[in-house]
Amino acid sequence: MDGATLNSFHEATIYNQDGSIRTLKVPVVQELARHGFREVPKMFLRPPLDTLNTTISYLSKDFPSISMEKLRVDKVEERKKELQKLANGFKEWGMVLVSDHGIPYNLLSGVKDVIKGFFGLSFEEKKRCVGTYTTVDNMGYGRNFIKSDDKPLDWIDRLTMKVSPKESTDGLNVWPKKPANFREVVESYAEEVRKLGDNILQAIAESLSLEKNAFVRYFEPKTRDINVRINYYPPCPEPKSTLGLSPHTDGTVLTLLIQFDTSGGLQVKHKHKKLWVSVPWPTDAILVNAGDFLEIMSNGRVQSSWHRAVTQADLERYSMALFFNPPLSTEIEPIESDNSRDYEYKKVIVGDYLQHLYKVSPTSSKVAIKYAMI
Ligand code: OGA
Ligand code: NI
Repeated sequence: MDGATLNSFHEATIYNQDGSIRTLKVPVVQELARHGFREVPKMFLRPPLDTLNTTISYLSKDFPSISMEKLRVDKVEERKKELQKLANGFKEWGMVLVSDHGIPYNLLSGVKDVIKGFFGLSFEEKKRCVGTYTTVDNMGYGRNFIKSDDKPLDWIDRLTMKVSPKESTDGLNVWPKKPANFREVVESYAEEVRKLGDNILQAIAESLSLEKNAFVRYFEPKTRDINVRINYYPPCPEPKSTLGLSPHTDGTVLTLLIQFDTSGGLQVKHKHKKLWVSVPWPTDAILVNAGDFLEIMSNGRVQSSWHRAVTQADLERYSMALFFNPPLSTEIEPIESDNSRDYEYKKVIVGDYLQHLYKVSPTSSKVAIKYAMI
């Protein structure tokens, strides 16, 4: 390694069994890739991915996808069909691709520009213009939570900010100061995606024959929680023995994602089929992902998706996720339009569930949700 790379580490605090603390230095994967290293440090290596459950790519025509245009209320027949596709998609996969989403092109390209502007800075400049807060919801510039050094680490760098509640990260340096318009651009984008996400949640409620606001009524404009996370996956010389993001469900009601530069990378497991499937995600579509709280609130009629990101040898990829949640103190429980179905999930407090999810993660299959099951 040369000097520049040796000095580029993210620092993670690890809690030992006996309660003592130590700091783990993790190379910044963007810097490894930038310096053309062909050897992936051991801490990122895992056994070759699912050689038996071989990943298959999925035909786009078979993957759930809806058009917001066709969901318009004046299009009665088309709307019915889209609602059905929405319900099926969330039941089977826990995610649905959304086209004709109406997010203006200039906002999307603005977001892409500021993200690339930030990640294009040197490591030192990045550290100078934004903080790292592993104990505050993992805000700022850094990488995924690291709980121990005996599990393989993900090949990822990331940047996390909170757009709502507005004042909750006051005094913290979580928004990059470079490019200068970073915050303004990302907040304008987030506002559009918030509206889109709320519309989709209303449509999901309708598709499950629930009252339109059954889910969105948990979102008070001032107190609702919206995190933005930018994931950067640099090219990786060992795509078979690494992951960009380990398998997980999102601890959210709903997550809305965009990606750019490459469309490969995100994979999902179907509820019954045991294969990892590459999501046929066109770069202009928004991916809507159901989190564990939507599974609980829908009494299991929506599945939260079990998903992961793979790495690619010669390609870099960015994704940007908006995570929607009610405040941590909110109690959520299954909502049914009548009493014809038994409740399979119980009441949980959002913050308690999240603590449980983080405590047990990472897991090799979808088990955290059992905490909320009867
Ligand atoms: C996430 C996530 C997927 C992606 O940020 O939770 O699942 O495509 N991202 O990067
Ligand atoms: Ni996710």
